[in-house]
Amino acid sequence: MWYNFRVKILGIETSCDETAAAIVEDGVRILSNVVVSQIDIFKEYGGVIPEVAARSHLEAIMPVINKALSDAACNWDDIDAVAVTHAPGLLGSLLIGTLTARTLAILHEKPLYAVHHLKSHIYANWLEREKFPEFPILALVVSGGHTQILSMQKHNDFKIIGTTFDDAVGECFDKIAKILGLPYPGGPSIAKAALSGDPNKYHFPHPKVDGYNFSFSGLKTAVLRAVQKELGLPISHPSHDLKNHLSEQQVADFAASFQKTAVSILKDTLKKAEIEYPAKSIVLAGGVSANSELRNALEDAYFPEIRFSGDNGAMVAAACYFEIQDGKQPTNPYELNIYPRITIS
Ligand code: KG4
Ligand code: ZN
Repeated sequence: MWYNFRVKILGIETSCDETAAAIVEDGVRILSNVVVSQIDIFKEYGGVIPEVAARSHLEAIMPVINKALSDAACNWDDIDAVAVTHAPGLLGSLLIGTLTARTLAILHEKPLYAVHHLKSHIYANWLEREKFPEFPILALVVSGGHTQILSMQKHNDFKIIGTTFDDAVGECFDKIAKILGLPYPGGPSIAKAALSGDPNKYHFPHPKVDGYNFSFSGLKTAVLRAVQKELGLPISHPSHDLKNHLSEQQVADFAASFQKTAVSILKDTLKKAEIEYPAKSIVLAGGVSANSELRNALEDAYFPEIRFSGDNGAMVAAACYFEIQDGKQPTNPYELNIYPRITIS
């Protein structure tokens, strides 16, 4: 454990379509934060193509790490540890990050730590904060691949109390954006279109799920059916063609009505969970936590700064720091594996 000197951790993140590296001091202070997004590549396709993502990571990873070092005015002698995302994520993308981190750790003789992506998203809430979240915590993780509620009694103590049975909420934003003809990634596009829409124009039901779990695939289908109905088209009409028949105002109204429903599902489930798991702090994490409707609906909650809500290396370094404080041991760099589908533990 490090208590007496300032610890600098290099965090590396490549689980999906952002190549990112950052240097963070004592788990909370940013010395540098470099993110290269592949959004411009995938806009053209309307979604991430795993093989293309991996190749782009390969091109970007060393320039990104070198920029993180130079922005922080650090050289390798200043770095105390390397932290890298090893789960969950796209297989090829995770491989580029972990193989790079392994090689650099061996070359520069630095301890190497494997970090879980969702823990990183949660620890983004400790970055550059004047006031830290207080335990017990209820964490709502809302990303492109996950929707979960976790109870935390202390650092590094995660109990999943709710999860999605099908789509993640971010995935639902992305898929509905595609139906409406809005560009990838769908979350920010829906949020932007919704600004000029009527959130009460269409009504979508909340799914009936037990406990503090979620289901978003029904909401996606409900929006699809409502669009077909609004246009007077049969349910057999291909979803990829609907956008050609929608007016700008209809798109805005669907975006606003869907967003309102998604936010209220998240809020209601979280409020229900709070009764059984009273919390001093509510913490939001993951890409969808950038959504301003969600931020407004849960105004007492902690949110990461917008630059830390999507994928970044700083949150990896932060999570790693708090794990080390709890006694986490480095991984043998020759044995570090990736776990594309593993849940938090
Ligand atoms: O955490 P993240 O960057 O990557 C994963 O770990 O999945 O989350 C990406 C997701 C995407 O589905 C994207 O559409 C969504 O976050 N997202 C948003 C917003 N910004 C990003 N969803 C709603 N509103 C936003 N402003
Ligand atoms: Zn993420």
